[in-house]
Amino acid sequence: MGRGQKVFLIGLVLLAALIGILVWRNRQPPMLPENENHAGITSGERCLVCHGPEDELTRGRNHPLGFDCARCHGTR
Ligand code: HEC
Ligand code: HEC
Repeated sequence: MGRGQKVFLIGLVLLAALIGILVWRNRQPPMLPENENHAGITSGERCLVCHGPEDELTRGRNHPLGFDCARCHGTR
């Protein structure tokens, strides 16, 4: 195997590893639970009554930015 081929193969393996890591780290937003807490809310402000920064149910430290909750948290 020539040097060029070796470099190419190593590059390919690294690329595959990188893609694997990105897929693995890609977090999906959880669906809204189907209960009365979550039915019929149309504004993100209502969500923050329970999920605000000071509450026990607050979003985690690594939660994505954004207050238009419905863009990411769908209903079934
Ligand atoms: C009346 C309080 C209350 C309101 C308002 C509320 N939630 Fe919740 N939420 C909860 C509670 C309690 C839980 C956890 C227990 C459960 O499954 O219901 C929860 C769970 C969740 C979860 C699931 C978390 C997980 O780990 O699966 C998401 C997502 C969520 N809420 C988003 C929202 C969004 C978006 C809104 C606005 C549309 C909202 N909540 C409004 C109380 C509330
Ligand atoms: C840009 C997309 C996006 C938006 C906008 C968004 N979320 Fe999330 N949410 C996520 C993702 C992704 C997760 C999963 C995080 C994880 O796995 O660490 C999540 C997780 C949660 C959880 C579970 C606890 C946690 O932090 O893991 C709650 C509760 C929640 N979101 C509530 C809300 C509320 C309330 C709003 C609006 C104020 C909102 N989210 C807006 C993407 C979003």
